[in-house]
Order: sequence, then structure tokens, then C-alpha cells
Amino acid sequence: MNIQLTEEHKMIQKAARDFARNELLPGVIERDEKQEVAYEQRKKLGELGFLGMMVSPEYGGGGLDAISYVLAMEEISKIDSSVSVCMSVNNSLVCWGLEEFGTEEQKRKYLVPLAKGEIVGAFCLSEPEAGSDATSQRTTAIDKGDYYLLNGTKNWITNGATASVYLVIAQTDVAKGSRGINAFIVEKGMPGFVVGAKENKLGIRGSDTTSLMFTDVKVPKENRIGEDGFGFKFAMKTLAGGRIGIAAQALGIAAGAYELALAYSKERKAFGKPISEHQAIQFKLADMATEIEAARLLCYKAAWHKDQHMDYAQSGAMAKLYASKVAMDTTIEAVQIHGGYGFVKEYHVERLMRDAKITQIYEGTSEIQKIVISRSILQ
Ligand code: CAA
Repeated sequence: MNIQLTEEHKMIQKAARDFARNELLPGVIERDEKQEVAYEQRKKLGELGFLGMMVSPEYGGGGLDAISYVLAMEEISKIDSSVSVCMSVNNSLVCWGLEEFGTEEQKRKYLVPLAKGEIVGAFCLSEPEAGSDATSQRTTAIDKGDYYLLNGTKNWITNGATASVYLVIAQTDVAKGSRGINAFIVEKGMPGFVVGAKENKLGIRGSDTTSLMFTDVKVPKENRIGEDGFGFKFAMKTLAGGRIGIAAQALGIAAGAYELALAYSKERKAFGKPISEHQAIQFKLADMATEIEAARLLCYKAAWHKDQHMDYAQSGAMAKLYASKVAMDTTIEAVQIHGGYGFVKEYHVERLMRDAKITQIYEGTSEIQKIVISRSILQ
């Protein structure tokens, strides 16, 4: 694996860092408190090309590699994971899924505006009774000839309220199990499609997570993605890449908390000297820096596998499993280093600690990553 960053990589990293510091940092505490979506900032992120980074320029994207995407995700997530989750879902799940498996017509109609960031998308797999056990879909799509009749409820949908295009996974033939599942492109505004209330969450509070209700929604046949019965594999393949994005998000949360703790430890004095001169703090910083570096290398490796068109399901799951644990451990230590200040909002680390938790839950819990990894090494 060659992990030498190119000049282009460094430029993208800097652009993302500048954007996060200049556009996202002001107001991030208030958005978290009020659960407000950063609409304007998201729009600018799209204009800069961060919402369709890996999509080919032919379809309005940046044509960049997965390493660039990981670099940008890390920088945005250091400051605002409510924005980076939108970025991750749009890039990895929605745009990638459409570019890889969509028809030319689907790409022209949906992928182009999504990749340009003119609209955002949502990926709708989870249900009240189908989270980790993703084959147990209760949402049904009955073949009615030239359309499918969609009925059911989806839960925990990122960009639920603000998306315009939804990739919805539904059961079309229960008897066929995972091979009787399909993926559909559903547009906001289709009759019978209702967006539920926004969830009041522990972390990533500035992202809109909602349920979605479908009652006799007529989805045109041309909105099915791939061959009949491809929906579960579509979801699994898409999530394999999504996990690299969430791993990078977790990395960014950890790195953001570490940078704050490092700076604070040099300023804050106790027992007559900066706390960074106390070995208790030095050991914490050493552990944090080492674990973050290991998480970063796992993220780069998974991205490199993707760029090399190698199988990345295992390396992506490893990156997500490890980076999300590092995010949790590092943010807890960052709060500890800040002492009482770490417990109040102005110092940012308590938010990062709350945001870290979701990286161990969405796009497959840590336990799901272990299933994916163990199946891969045992096959
Ligand atoms: N690529 C291609 N095909 C795959 C695959 C992959 N990575 N993983 C599985 N498949 C295929 C299998 O080969 C199998 O195909 P065949 O029928 O041809 O043999 C089929 O899919 C069924 O696979 P399994 O038997 O392995 O299915 P399973 O029921 O045992 O479940 C699982 C596997 C890994 C546990 C899966 O259910 C899973 O990943 N669950 C977690 C779901 C998840 O991540 N949800 C996140 C929601 S999205 C989200 O969070 C987005 C957001 O808003 C931020």
C-alpha cells in the first residue's frame, strides 16, 4: 500500500480543513443545542464538490479517489459530524450506489444533481424491526405491472427530512428471503410518502434523522435499481463503502478531540506547571496519538483497497470497528484532560464525545462489523 499523500490530496485536505474552521465552527454549538441543520453550509459544501467527490465528472462529480474522500471526511468531522454524516451518506451510499448500479436514465435524472450537491439523498434500509438483521424487511413493494406499490415504515433515516431522493430497500417476494429484496428510487412528494418527526438525539444533533412512512406509494418500474432481487446485495455492497466513510468520520472525531486536548494541556496550569508536563497527561496524549494514527492507517488501507478495485468489505469493517472505538475512548479522555471545562459546551469536547457514540451504531453496529470481519477471515 502506498500511503504517500499527493499534492492534490493535501490540497483537498486543506480545503476541507479551511471550510470546517471557517464555515462550520461558528455556530456548531448552537446548531447542536437547537438541533438545527446547517442548510447554508451544506449548500456551500455541495458547491465545493464535497457531496459527490468520487462521482465521475461525466455525472457532475469530482472524479476523486477514496483517499481524498477519507481526508475530507476526517477534516469536516473534526468540527461538525452532523454535516459529515450528510456528506458520507450522499457520497458513499446514495451517489456511489447510483453510479455503480443505476441505469443511464437514473444517473442523468438523479445522480447528477446529487453529485453536484444541488440536492441530497437518503439511504433507507433500517426499520423498526430490521436494524442489524437487515434481511427482515417488513416494507413491501408489490409488482403491479408498470409500477410497484410501496408500503411500510423506515427508521433512523439520515437526511430524512431534507433529502429529495431516497433509496428505499423493500421486500418484493418474502419467500425468496434476501433474494426477494429490491432497492427503489423514491422522490419526496410522491403521493403516500410522509416524513416523520425529527428524532431528539444524544449526538449529531444537527443532522435530521427521521422515520419515513409509505402508504400505497406508486414507484415507477424504471425506479428499481438493478435486476429483480438485487436489493439486498445492493445494500450490502453500498454499506461496505459507507463504512469507510463512517470510519473516517470516527477518525475525525477522535483527531478533533485530541487536538483540543493537546492544546488545552499546554495552556492549563496545575501544581505550578502546564498539565502537559505531568506524566499522567503525557501518557494519555501518547495513547491517544498512537491509537488515532492506527485508526488513520486502517482508514487509508480500506480506501486504498477501494481505489485499487480490491475487496474492501473486510478492511472497511475493520477500519470502522477500530476507528469508532478510538473515537469513543479518545473523546472520553479528552473530556477528562479538560476536567470541569470538558463538561461544558464551550470547549467542544463534550459534543465530540456524544457524537462519537453513533459511529459504533450506524452503518452496522460494532457487533455487525465483527460478523463481517469474522466471516471474511473464516471463509
Ligand atoms: N457484498 C455483496 N454481497 C453480500 C455482501 C457484500 N458485502 N454481504 C452479504 N452479501 C450477500 C451474501 O453473499 C448473500 O448472497 P447469496 O444469497 O447470493 O448467498 C446475501 O447477501 C445474504 O447475505 P447473508 O446471508 O450474509 O445475510 P445475513 O442475514 O446473515 O446478514 C449482515 C448479514 C452482515 C449481518 C447484514 O444483515 C448487515 O450488514 N446488517 C447491518 C445492516 C446495517 O449496516 N444497517 C445500517 C443502516 S444504514 C445507515 O445507518 C445509514 C445512515 O443513515 C448513516
